[in-house]
Amino acid sequence: MSNTDFLLAVEDLSVSFDGFKAIDALNLYVDRGELRVVIGPNGAGKTTLLDLICGRTAASSGSIKFKNVEMTSMAEFRIVRAGIGRKFQTPSIYENLSVFQNLEVSFPRGRGVFGALAFRCTADVRERVQEVADEIGLAALLPTEAGLLSHGQKQWLEIGMLLMQDPELLMLDEPIAGMSVREREITAELLTKICQNRSMIVIEHDMEFVARIAHKVTVMHQGKILAEGPMDQVQNDPRVIDVYLGH
Ligand SMILES: Nc1ncnc2c1ncn2[C@@H]1O[C@H](COP(=O)(O)OP(=O)(O)O)[C@@H](O)[C@H]1O
Ligand SMILES: [Mg+2]
Repeated sequence: MSNTDFLLAVEDLSVSFDGFKAIDALNLYVDRGELRVVIGPNGAGKTTLLDLICGRTAASSGSIKFKNVEMTSMAEFRIVRAGIGRKFQTPSIYENLSVFQNLEVSFPRGRGVFGALAFRCTADVRERVQEVADEIGLAALLPTEAGLLSHGQKQWLEIGMLLMQDPELLMLDEPIAGMSVREREITAELLTKICQNRSMIVIEHDMEFVARIAHKVTVMHQGKILAEGPMDQVQNDPRVIDVYLGH
């Protein structure tokens, strides 16, 4: 496999489930500072691709390099420490904790004698919580119990929890599902802002939203890449219209 200047280089990646190739000899290269959107019909393998990159699923073959370091077969927590953050479709915030506490517990720290319980709220952590709260637009809600937030605010909080780790690559699986029009607009602005100092892979279906945020779009179909390029090019590709956009 080649050396590369890309932040993420996925090469010849495959995974099979009971003989079914969910990802089939896939290549994907993501630049530093790039916001890549992955689209494609249900079952195309989009979520599986993220599962492979974050180490949740083991590849059958191929290579995943992050900053030129081989990630394939690395443990999930090591991949997080290396700088890859991943948001799942269902939010996993602590509903009974405040917004502040949700961000605070997400601050990365070494495991001391008492593990996570030994954590003290240092000025550093408080400062980082404030920074992230500003970034996700929840600064005024820091004392609020997370369970009381709107659906959109919960999603932003979860993105904030990932930002606490300051990942160089952030992966989001359908972040605007269930959001109102206004929440979608705010999320588009948020992702554009977040991407100024990191790369992102976003899986999304809403084409208006995709057009608004994507630097480049990758279209997946049957575990392979069907098309890739700027939104206007991909949108007018007859193969993409045939398997995805035409419906
Ligand atoms: N852990 C698994 N075990 C068996 N089959 C799986 C597993 N994960 C995904 N698949 C299958 O792989 C295919 C791709 O799924 P997925 O990545 O969820 O697609 P998408 O996110 O594009 O809708 C589907 O046919 C799905 O049923
Ligand atoms: Mg999916």
